[in-house]
Order: sequence, then structure tokens, then C-alpha cells
Amino acid sequence: MNQHVLSNDPAAIVAADRAHVWHHLIQHKPFETVDPRIIVEGKGLRVWDIMGKEHIDAVSGAVWTVNVGYGRKRIADAVAAQLTKMCFFAGASGTIPGAQFAEMLVDKMPGLDRVYYANSGSEANEKAFKMVRQIAHKHHGGRKHKILFRERDYHGTTIANLSAGGQAERNAQYGPFTPGFVQVPHCLAYRRWDGMTDDQFGQRAADAIEAVILREGPDTVGALCLEPMTAGGGIVTPPQGYWDRVQEICAKYDILLHIDEVVCGLGRTGTWFGYQQYGVKPDIVTMAKGVASGYAAISCCVTTDAVFEQFKDDTDPLSYFRDISTFGGCTAGPTAAIENMAIIEEEGLLDNSTAMGAHLKANLHALMDKHAVIGDVRGQGLFCGAELVTDRATKEPLSEKQVAAITADCMAQGVIIGATNRSVPGFNNTLLFAPALIATKDDIDQITDAVDRALTRVLG
Ligand SMILES: Cc1ncc(COP(=O)(O)O)c(C=O)c1O
Repeated sequence: MNQHVLSNDPAAIVAADRAHVWHHLIQHKPFETVDPRIIVEGKGLRVWDIMGKEHIDAVSGAVWTVNVGYGRKRIADAVAAQLTKMCFFAGASGTIPGAQFAEMLVDKMPGLDRVYYANSGSEANEKAFKMVRQIAHKHHGGRKHKILFRERDYHGTTIANLSAGGQAERNAQYGPFTPGFVQVPHCLAYRRWDGMTDDQFGQRAADAIEAVILREGPDTVGALCLEPMTAGGGIVTPPQGYWDRVQEICAKYDILLHIDEVVCGLGRTGTWFGYQQYGVKPDIVTMAKGVASGYAAISCCVTTDAVFEQFKDDTDPLSYFRDISTFGGCTAGPTAAIENMAIIEEEGLLDNSTAMGAHLKANLHALMDKHAVIGDVRGQGLFCGAELVTDRATKEPLSEKQVAAITADCMAQGVIIGATNRSVPGFNNTLLFAPALIATKDDIDQITDAVDRALTRVLG
């Protein structure tokens, strides 16, 4: 038998990657001159690449995912034991970790009761859209089918999610999109309309949602889907009063509030969920990345009992939620999620996210004195961004090329930071920071020291 022998030789692995892997979010070139970066090991906040170089990962796996840090044997052991016993069974049946994690999760989400398992953030959001549509057909004669989304927000990579995507560069060339998704304006105070305080802007940004609802017709709008704080669209923490008004508007027009916690969930912003910082009462919450910190693929679409009740008419053969996620029945996800949540709790990582996030923001604010290019520092907990501008008065965004040079300089120093990427046209100018929730002051100082040096070297 002709058996393929896998080589562990770094050069062979790089060559295999170069020859056969189509990377996410990377511009492949006709003639590649740079080797792909291959990450081989992680411990805590640090990762090592195949050349043996150590990096501090200031963005938790590049995309806000590894909340509890790398190398957690406890999670790997639990998953191995569970997979050996019972790896998968389709979600029409239950599993032990599925039931246990659902109970743990809703305990952290007062007012929400039901957990629908899937395996990516996009998929969880797609489930929510389908629930809203089915409720519209079953209970509102199909009318309340429109879903509002916000400029700058991102909800995932499928066509329906891009249809609900407020980042024009992500969407370009993927149309035509699904009908029934309608955009409302962003709520980034730094880019507010002129002549207003942040608070006035918060009210106006929420009022603008009501204006869209009235324009579309309230009886056509089924749900409003928002990130609690916008992530990839530039780290937007909504101004004071915004969320109260949003909640009021949803109640007034009988519109379901769907909060996308794919990034902010599981402690990223210092509370279990981002919406909890604003006293919001959502009807549907979706989550993914930090649920199992990347140790397994899992996402959840969590609803109130009131939403769940609408799918219970057993006299109607089409009444139940006719949806399946094959890998929503894989037990690795909830098993890893149980351990992940226990670690966050036992190690006090919510408080650490708040405290270290404040330290990170203070360091970034201090850098503003030295580097005029930092126009704004935003965030909550270990979810932070620094928007770069060529001029603080005009707020002209720094060019993408220069932003890329800054992140590349940090990378060369062994510090992986992020930047908004192919999001809002002209505004790919925000540096992103989201280290694991275990970060210490020393880690944060190393990250911001590298940014300081990079800004000096790249911009002088
Ligand atoms: C806010 C938000 N929602 C949804 C998604 C999609 O998640 P996934 O990539 O797991 O499909 C992302 C991904 O970055 C996201 O940032």
C-alpha cells in the first residue's frame, strides 16, 4: 500500500502550506515572496511560530477568541475523555455536556432560557434570523420579516449574514444579497454628526433607528440585530443613553432585540456579556468565539422562553424550528465550554478583564501625549481600539498602508496586534487589542511598549 508519510520538517510544512492552503483574509499573490506564518504552540498569552519565534498574542488568536489563553490541559483532557465516551449525536437528542452547559449558560443570562447549539458565529446568527422569519410567518402573516442591522457591525460570513453586514468592504463583490435586511446608522461618537455632545449623539443615533422603522413600516420589522459594542467595525462603545432608547424603541414597535455577542461574550468586556453593562433585556443572544476559547467549535443562539413558546404549536406540522446544525451535536463544544466557563469563574477573569482593560486604556491614553496620530482610544475591558488619524482636528484617517506598517512592526517585535481590515471603506485605521483575559500588567506594558516603538519607527 502506498502510504503518504507526513513530514515534521518545518521547510516541508511551509512548502505544503504554500502549495495547498487557501488562507482566510489573506491576499495571495501571483509570486509569493513571504513564507506563510505557521503557529505551532501556545501557552498563556504567548505563541511560537514554526521558526521558533515567540510572540505575545494581543488579539487572542487574531480574532478575539482564546479568552482563557493557550495550553489549558484541563480543557483538552475533558474533551478527550468526552470524545472517547461519546463524540457526537445529532441534536434532536441530548448529550450530557450539552444539557450541563446550557444550564450553566442561562444561569449567567437572567431572562434567557433556551440554548440552540451550532458551530460558528455566522451560523448562530443565521439561526436567529430564521427564528425571526418563522415567527413572522407563523404569527404575523409573514409581514414582520425585516431585520434591521447597524452600519459598522458585522455578523458573519454567509450571504444572509453579509446581507445584515454594515461593513461595505466585506460585502463588495458578494451580492446580490438577501432581501429584507435594512441598515440603520452607526453610533460611533468619535465620528458623530457635528455640533453634538456624545450623549446627544447617542440619543440621535437611537432616534435614527426609530426613523428607519417608521420609514419601513413598524408592522414589517421583526428584529433589530446589533453588536453590544461593535468589534471589527472599529471598537464602538455606544454612548450613554443609547441602549435605553434602543430598548424603548423595540418595546414600542414589538421588535425582537437580537444581540450578537460573538466577540463580546464570555468576559471579553469585563462582564459575562457586553449587553449586561447597559441593562439591556434581549430576546435573542448569539455567541461563539470565547464560548470555548477556540478549544472546540461551538456557538449558541440563546432565546427567552417567550421566543421558544412561539415554536410549540403541535397542531401545525411546520410550527417547530425546522433547522439542524450537524456539528451542533458534537460534544467537544459544550465540554470545552463547561471548562472554559469554570476557568473564567475560578480565576476571576471577569474582574481581571475590567482591571487590565483599564490599564491598557490608560497606557494607550498615555501614548496619545506622545503620538498625535492616536485620535481616539475606545473600549471596555480587554476589548480596546486606538483610532489613528493624520490630523486630530480633521480626523482624517491614517492610510491603510501606514496602519499595516505599524502592525507589521509590532509583529517583527514579537507582538501580534490587530487592525480593522476590509471593513468600513476609508476607515481601516483602528488598531485592535484583545489579549486573553489572563493578561497581567507586565503583558499589557509589553504590548503598548511595542506599539510606542512601532509608531515612532513608522511615523517618526
Ligand atoms: C460580531 C461578530 N459576529 C459574528 C461573527 C462571525 O463569526 P464566525 O467567524 O464564527 O462565523 C464575527 C466574526 O468575527 C463577529 O465579529
